Amino acid sequence: MKLFADRLKALGTENAFKVGADIAKAEAMGLKVIRFNLGEPDFDTPEFICQVACNNLMSGNTHYCPPAGIPQLRETLARQISETRRISVRPDQIVVTPGAKPSICYTLLSYVNPGDEVIYPSPGFPIYESMVTFVGATPVPLHLKESKGFSFTADDLGQLITPKTKLIIINSPSNPTGGVLSEADIQSIAEVILEKCDNTVRIYSDEVYEKILFDGSVHHSIASVPGMQDRTIICSGHSKSFAMTGWRLGFAVLPTEEEVECFTNLNINIISCTPPFSQAAGVEAYISPESDKAVAHMVQHFEARRDYAVPALNAIDGITCAKPSGAFYVFPNIEGICEKLGIFEAHASLPQAKARQLSPSKLFQKFLIYHHGVATMDRQSFGSIGTEKLHFLRLSTATDLDSIKMGIRRIDEASRDKKGFSEFMQQLEQYL
Ligand SMILES: Cc1ncc(COP(=O)(O)O)c(C=O)c1O
Repeated sequence: MKLFADRLKALGTENAFKVGADIAKAEAMGLKVIRFNLGEPDFDTPEFICQVACNNLMSGNTHYCPPAGIPQLRETLARQISETRRISVRPDQIVVTPGAKPSICYTLLSYVNPGDEVIYPSPGFPIYESMVTFVGATPVPLHLKESKGFSFTADDLGQLITPKTKLIIINSPSNPTGGVLSEADIQSIAEVILEKCDNTVRIYSDEVYEKILFDGSVHHSIASVPGMQDRTIICSGHSKSFAMTGWRLGFAVLPTEEEVECFTNLNINIISCTPPFSQAAGVEAYISPESDKAVAHMVQHFEARRDYAVPALNAIDGITCAKPSGAFYVFPNIEGICEKLGIFEAHASLPQAKARQLSPSKLFQKFLIYHHGVATMDRQSFGSIGTEKLHFLRLSTATDLDSIKMGIRRIDEASRDKKGFSEFMQQLEQYL
């Protein structure tokens, strides 16, 4: 008998949580690593939110609570979603979860059978592809093209929809590209869904970056298009909007009572409930008069950093970088660097098994950490199917401007360090 169940082989991961080991190793070798790998605001949770959690802890709010979420938070969220999406949402349509992540898993477990097709953005949040393969569904990546500002059209989506499509995942603003779907995009995407899918096909609208938007752009949810609310699971949470990643607080808005029961039962089976003091603080995040200012402060910083990072990256020979409209990532194309440094040849000369495990962008990503002290994420960490010829990095701008400046300077130096790259390739084994 084997120790592990077969299903584990189909489970992917989120490499952002694994780069820490590379950073620790590089720092033990004497480098001071600049961290562009983190997918979380570098701001602490605002004090007025922390205070509520402290008060709740001290007054004994430390027990189990209702598995779908405390009534105050579900009421607050229902009001807030109804207002911002211009739809009518009741508190009993909401299930609170520990972070936005569990809803991805719950959605795949609830709606998708083995063999069903799931369309998801690529590059996209890695857990989409991981969970799709985990449940035995057929992954259908919707490739977001750099040439289209990492957006996609209704036509692009329409071509992928078949009678086997069961779930369509969209994510705006996007991790990792920072792309934002316009109201017109969303309208035409909804039209193609309404035309081609029956009402058992669900849309998972991941809106966790809804508050992190630049240049005055506005968040649009597909659930706002007439006819779509009944087919859409809206997922969002506190992690990115209020710098609350460690609190584990997120939620799903579901079309029907039955679906709410299903998500609630998954909560009961897996986590029982989301910590009540986190939820109480989560109410405060939405109702406090101080919140808008705190969010705007963070967003201003993210925008200023984007305004520095994009031209600075584009100034490097071998990089092209689109300008994101939201979230806190930039997603430069590094194909030119791979050519300049001979990374394609180095990759092609690896033994087959190694070459499969390491893409050219992965080689450059490792070279950056171990020889130049910059931690980034490679393209294949955001969905690997059909990406052999795509060479990108993701840099998180959730780090201070001085570090961003120094990190990009180091990437520039690395992009010209041919000698360093051949040394790195000779030592490759020690970095794996
Ligand atoms: C697109 C997207 N969805 C969901 C999540 C998960 O968020 P949480 O930390 O609230 O679980 C993330 C986190 O990086 C994300 O980028």
